[in-house]
Amino acid sequence: MEEGWWRGPGLDALIAAVSALERGSWALLHALGLAPLVHGQPAWPFGARVSVAMLTLDPSHARRVGMVMLLLAAAVLAGLLAALLRWPLRSRKASAVALGLGAALLAGAAWTWPAPELLWAPAVPTSFHRLPDAVAGEAALHGGRLYAQHCAACHGANGDGDGPQAEGGPRWPPTLNRGLLWRRSDGELFWHLRHGMADGQGQPTMPALPHELPDDAAWALLAWLQLHAAGQQLARAGEWQLPLAAPALDVRCDGAAPRELQALRGQRLRIVALRPDQPALREDPRFQTVTLSPAPRAQAEGCEAVSEAAWQAYALVAGVAPDALAGTEFLVDRDGWLRARRKADDAPWSDAMLVCRGSGAASGAMADAGADGLERLLARMDAEPVRPVRGGRLH
Ligand code: HEC
Repeated sequence: MEEGWWRGPGLDALIAAVSALERGSWALLHALGLAPLVHGQPAWPFGARVSVAMLTLDPSHARRVGMVMLLLAAAVLAGLLAALLRWPLRSRKASAVALGLGAALLAGAAWTWPAPELLWAPAVPTSFHRLPDAVAGEAALHGGRLYAQHCAACHGANGDGDGPQAEGGPRWPPTLNRGLLWRRSDGELFWHLRHGMADGQGQPTMPALPHELPDDAAWALLAWLQLHAAGQQLARAGEWQLPLAAPALDVRCDGAAPRELQALRGQRLRIVALRPDQPALREDPRFQTVTLSPAPRAQAEGCEAVSEAAWQAYALVAGVAPDALAGTEFLVDRDGWLRARRKADDAPWSDAMLVCRGSGAASGAMADAGADGLERLLARMDAEPVRPVRGGRLH
């Protein structure tokens, strides 16, 4: 198979299969009592996990891992077939052939087995932990304060690794605004915050978060850092360089019970930040409009979300102060990724406002030049879906 395939659909399928296997064995171990709770979620009991970063970086390694998985799956099927032939069908000979085939497939898998240093990455007990939803929703309110208090001295007021204490330690603190937070899983970052970090000689490089702070403080910090880093990228480079799920909202449409933003997946959304006294925007049939306000609006109509925390979260990802957010619009694609932003005083929508580019083919060809700016933008959003790999995991 072409190696290119192992960078695209083959890689996605492989990562999904590896993830499913890891999560499946983890759930099984937990059910058997072998993965007790750590920091509120089942612990990953091994010191290693499959390195998804390596699969992404090296297509020939990915192909090898893919082959091994196919061979192992075929060997399991041959084993099942052998059992079926041996017992219910009572055909010893055919069963022996199937068994031989299974053994050959196993030998093939062992022969193809990839180098361990490529296959495995170090893991911590919280490698597979997920950021609790309840914390994510409120993180924008508390994370910034915690950051200023406990982290800014080293990592700098804006996360660039330039705080007054940056120099003192054995290692320079990294900038938190580039890809770092996306390369690791949430759970691994959490472990590093909660337990601190050390260099190869065991010399502490980063202090652990104080004991008196609950786990939720570490999660809130992480969620805040991710929103903040996205906003810093947008403010400096003019784009969200890494995939960013639309921050959580409780959306109430025409007075019905509120639903989470996730429940609206599958539709294109426009999220418009408006102060309570600003008039709602006109609906557009090309997407569902959700009006976000920090406080209840005088005239409730259509779909709206009222939340101070969400207002602050959207201000963070837009890279502006909360008072400067009013009038900003965001477009969310059908998979829930934030894709485009239009500021209050910008020109009408155009495809240049696609600030999170997907991975698909270069655009141009798909939308005809005569279509309006929004039409072209939406066409590109659909044609260039986001590759949802984060911390080497599918979301
Ligand atoms: C005393 C200085 C110092 C303080 C205080 C500090 N850090 Fe760090 N931080 C570092 C250094 C140094 C590293 C690099 C450690 C290494 O690679 O061994 C680091 C690494 C990190 C990383 C990268 C972790 C990874 O997986 O590679 C994150 C995220 C981080 N810090 C966040 C924080 C947060 C959030 C706080 C506040 C709760 C904080 N840091 C407080 C110095 C500090």
